[in-house]
Amino acid sequence: MTTLITGGAGYIGSITARAIRASGRAVVVLDTLENGHRKAVGDAPFVQADVADADAVRRTVEEHGVDEVVHFAAYKAVGESMENPGKYFANNVTGSQKLFEVLHTCGVERVVFSSTAAVYGTPSRVPVRETDAANCESVYAETKLMIEKTLGWYSRTTGMRSVCLRYFNAAGASDDATLGEDWRFSQNLVPHVMKAVLGRSPALKVFGNDWPTPDGTGVRDYIHVEDLATAHVAALDHLSSGGASVTCNVGTGQGTSVLEVIAATERIAGRKVPHEIVGRRAGDVSEVFADASLIRGLFGWEPRRHLDDIISSAYAWHSANPDGHPS
Ligand code: WQD
Repeated sequence: MTTLITGGAGYIGSITARAIRASGRAVVVLDTLENGHRKAVGDAPFVQADVADADAVRRTVEEHGVDEVVHFAAYKAVGESMENPGKYFANNVTGSQKLFEVLHTCGVERVVFSSTAAVYGTPSRVPVRETDAANCESVYAETKLMIEKTLGWYSRTTGMRSVCLRYFNAAGASDDATLGEDWRFSQNLVPHVMKAVLGRSPALKVFGNDWPTPDGTGVRDYIHVEDLATAHVAALDHLSSGGASVTCNVGTGQGTSVLEVIAATERIAGRKVPHEIVGRRAGDVSEVFADASLIRGLFGWEPRRHLDDIISSAYAWHSANPDGHPS
């Protein structure tokens, strides 16, 4: 079995590619390297191309005997998407639609898609369920929902089947700390905490401690990137054993606050995280965490790692890779 991994030179894509290979599958990575890193691909077969390049995708499918696809390739900066919507609709939506049409014409009928809990926007309730209304509050989130809907129509009108995985907050690094997030571009909490504790940035800004949460700081569902990776393998197994198309939350079901992330980091690093409480960040919500019972029940998948594993792997990765990418 050969799995095509688009965006497999990125943070989640590269760690998932390892898990897919560990499941006994062959892989081929297709990535523009615009945001990813060639070293993160390791010794896996690699094609430098854009998913919108139909000829390159077709050649890759034919030359590698691709049976299934995990589609990560996308831009994912929420703020940038609101400043440059055209860039996000063209790359994420049009690029994905071109990819799916080539896959369909080549007879590749199994797709696992990297979606996001951001499609829920400000959740109407927590824990968030897949049946809760999608209420996108950013262009980025809207592009992910549009791609989910495109896959839904391919599923209804062709033989293509898909699993859309709505990630909650992916965090941490590979268990061996050789792959991780590039903190140069990330606006996410854990890379920012790591920069502050390692003295690579001024004090961490905590965006508000007046939220209606137990300690007043924002609560999120942080899922270890290695557990996220095994969720993709479970989704591929579901499809290759004939499973129907489905959309699943991928989270732990557990909420964790900003101050709890800081406390875990101080405990593991053995030093203080310089931080200051500032005003709320525009667009933030107080509390988001998953109801992950669907993926647990359907795939038998379980997250095995906890907050300390996220923090210790991120700390090891960022300590060894201050340039933000595998050296
Ligand atoms: C987490 C918490 C912040 C940074 C985003 C995207 C979403 C998804 C995951 C792709 C919040 C607080 C953060 C900082 C802070 N990405 N925080 N200081 O906003 O939940 O979701 O990443 O799919 O699309 O929107 O993640 O890590 O930015 O914030 O206090 O320097 O940490 O207020 O409570 P978020 P985040």
